[in-house]
Amino acid sequence: TKEPLIDSLGRQISYLRLSVTDRCDFRCQYCMAEKMTFLPKKDVLSLEELYLIAKTFMACGIDKIRLTGGEPLVRRDIQTLISLLGNHVSKGDLKELTMTTNGSQLGQYASMLAQSNVKRLNVSLDSLNPDKFKHITRRGSLKNVLKGIDTAVAQDIHIKINMVIMGQENMDDLLPMVDYCTQNKFDLTLIEAMPLEAGGIDRAANFMPLSACVDLIQQQYALLPSTHSTAGPARYMTIDGSQSRLGLITPLTQNFCQGCNRIRLTCTGKLYPCLGHDTHLDFRELIRSGAKEVELVQQLRAIIAQKPAAHDFEISSSKTKSATTRSMNTTGG
Ligand code: GTP
Ligand code: 5AD
Ligand code: SF4
Repeated sequence: TKEPLIDSLGRQISYLRLSVTDRCDFRCQYCMAEKMTFLPKKDVLSLEELYLIAKTFMACGIDKIRLTGGEPLVRRDIQTLISLLGNHVSKGDLKELTMTTNGSQLGQYASMLAQSNVKRLNVSLDSLNPDKFKHITRRGSLKNVLKGIDTAVAQDIHIKINMVIMGQENMDDLLPMVDYCTQNKFDLTLIEAMPLEAGGIDRAANFMPLSACVDLIQQQYALLPSTHSTAGPARYMTIDGSQSRLGLITPLTQNFCQGCNRIRLTCTGKLYPCLGHDTHLDFRELIRSGAKEVELVQQLRAIIAQKPAAHDFEISSSKTKSATTRSMNTTGG
């Protein structure tokens, strides 16, 4: 099974994004509707099922796992899965075990994460203004998230802030965010908002290409070229005079699909080889009908062979296009 996972375009797959729940304690505008109905428990993979799939994939050459959601830390008993996966970092199967989180539960879980070999976290934070933070997340408390981040830092976990740029909505928040990140030695990744389903809000009205953000930042900071890589979609620059890097994720203005190394498993066991397409394979059905490891591996290779060349998201005033009706909390990014 150690033959590398390679798709029909020669892209090698080594990064699994594992969504452990569709639930979240926030309701970010661009991610969810205000009133949400979440999946019934029976549809969601058990922690044992998630681990079984992850183990099978690791045996095939997946060496980076990122837990996603919803919010991964609201899944009950999640520490048991994290600790099991963390052992594979010690064993050398995984180069990295990490997570994308809204930060709300870090006060409680940061030390558990550190003990499970999680050395780096991406924390979603779109504004440092408490009122605006509340408006965007509908339910989050900025103070609590900042406290959670500090708890993670105290555990020597490296922080990268993810900021989704929503045009005029949060452009004012950009420079304060760069200041906050450089002062705290955090990396900052800016993300162009993708047209995923989120209760029918108008995407085009407040879309902003990241080139505009770079221009604004350069009025205050010099940005230097960097070869840094996290094996994710961001391109990085160093923020001169700091220990922080600026990452740019530009699905709309400069897509990164050519170098894509990722697959994602939803919490119901559907494997999507692309965030922007509905092509998928149902691993839940396979494992619940007792499929053996060889069959899982065969099916994994088969769905990777079908990985689409690229997403075709598009945002403009005349057309906003998403090839999928899934929302972010279903696929986990
Ligand atoms: P690093 O390990 O730090 O590189 O993390 P990452 O950027 O891979 O993961 P994160 O969860 O922080 O995702 C940041 C943004 O990138 C989110 O908006 C994701 O939806 C988006 N993203 C990640 N992978 C893909 C992808 O394959 N396609 C697209 N279009 N967006 C992606
Ligand atoms: N477009 C871009 N990024 C998004 N995220 C959530 N929804 C969207 C969207 N529509 C981000 C979150 C989180 C990461 C997993 O994806 O802020 O940081
Ligand atoms: Fe929750 Fe993250 Fe979606 Fe916000 S973006 S509602 S924090 S899953």
